Amino acid sequence: MNILLKSFPNNRKTAFNRMKAAITATANYLPPDILSNHDLELLLDTNDEWIRSRTGISERRILKDPEKATSYMCGEVARKLLEKRQITADDVELIIVATMTPDMPFPSTACFTQSIIGATNAWAFDVNAACSGFLYALNIGARFIESGAHKKVMVIGADKMSSVTDFTDRSTAILFGDGAGGVILEPAKEEGYGILDARMYSDGTNGKDHLLMTGGGSRHPATYETIDKRMHYIHQDGRQVFKAAVTSMAEVALEIMNRNNLKAEDVAYLVPHQANQRIIDATAERMGVDEKKVVSNVARYGNTTAGTIPICLAELDEQQKLHTGSNLVLVSFGAGYTWGGIYLKWQ
Ligand code: UT7
Repeated sequence: MNILLKSFPNNRKTAFNRMKAAITATANYLPPDILSNHDLELLLDTNDEWIRSRTGISERRILKDPEKATSYMCGEVARKLLEKRQITADDVELIIVATMTPDMPFPSTACFTQSIIGATNAWAFDVNAACSGFLYALNIGARFIESGAHKKVMVIGADKMSSVTDFTDRSTAILFGDGAGGVILEPAKEEGYGILDARMYSDGTNGKDHLLMTGGGSRHPATYETIDKRMHYIHQDGRQVFKAAVTSMAEVALEIMNRNNLKAEDVAYLVPHQANQRIIDATAERMGVDEKKVVSNVARYGNTTAGTIPICLAELDEQQKLHTGSNLVLVSFGAGYTWGGIYLKWQ
């Protein structure tokens, strides 16, 4: 015991003194093609009024080119991140891509992204936590910075939801869109800044059967039968997921506020997962946060799954709304169920 302590006399101290992880660049990519509610009216028995009043969505983006997959959007985000942060691909030590629509089951979309930008010094892997994927990945990336293992981590959330959307199912086809966003994480310059708290949850027991794609995995590999049964598309019990989302997002948001002594007026922005404006509003109401502080672009992009939160962050950043000391609360909920919250102070 003594020998061990003597051999590593500063280990504990060093570990506690490490800086938190701060976001030093943001970027997003939305494909240019728009699929509006009116376009969907031509395909399905639905209407603009129903979609807008039940979800808040007016239009979504679709990556139309069949040659382009999720990694294309990740590559666009990754290039912008390097440019914004004025670093080269060689500087990136780790790439984490959150997605539930990988280019293929393997290799990972993170490896495709690494190859697109030529980040030869990085290691790379995917995280699948559906709509909570970006927050899970951000939390993982932050730990590699905090531990001192890495100085530059790229975290991207991206989904080509149109590749798993059944455009004959009006209950899901109206909800989703394609898009990607990402950040660079580095050690914060000063103590008290960066990602200060994270709470992550999963509940497979109650959640695994309500939002899922049953075909294409090891349980139901692709066959003519799985295709005929439309098993390679999203299936959702919307009401169940809605109820769980409202409860869980609000609970984790309040937990984050309580743990960090944040009052509603201390929060500069609530950045919620963008699935449904009604879920966003319910979360903000429980937190007591003024609607001006609630970030929402669900009207323009629909639910881009792992893309929603980093897309919002990049828009806030682009609009120069993020200032040193701004308190951000990020919250998400998705298939699994998975959910989580992150508190960060912008540096
Ligand atoms: O990203 C995380 C995961 N996803 C979510 O967070 C989504 C959670 N769920 C939701 O956002 C909502 O449940 C939906 C937007 C999916 C559905 O809204 P709802 O208010 O829960 O509607 P509902 O499923 O209870 O359906 C109400 C009615 C039904 O008709 P009847 O049975 O009352 O006659 C549906 O058949 O609306 C009908 N309906 C539609 N009507 C026009 C369902 N989809 C449509 C549609 N257009 N697209």
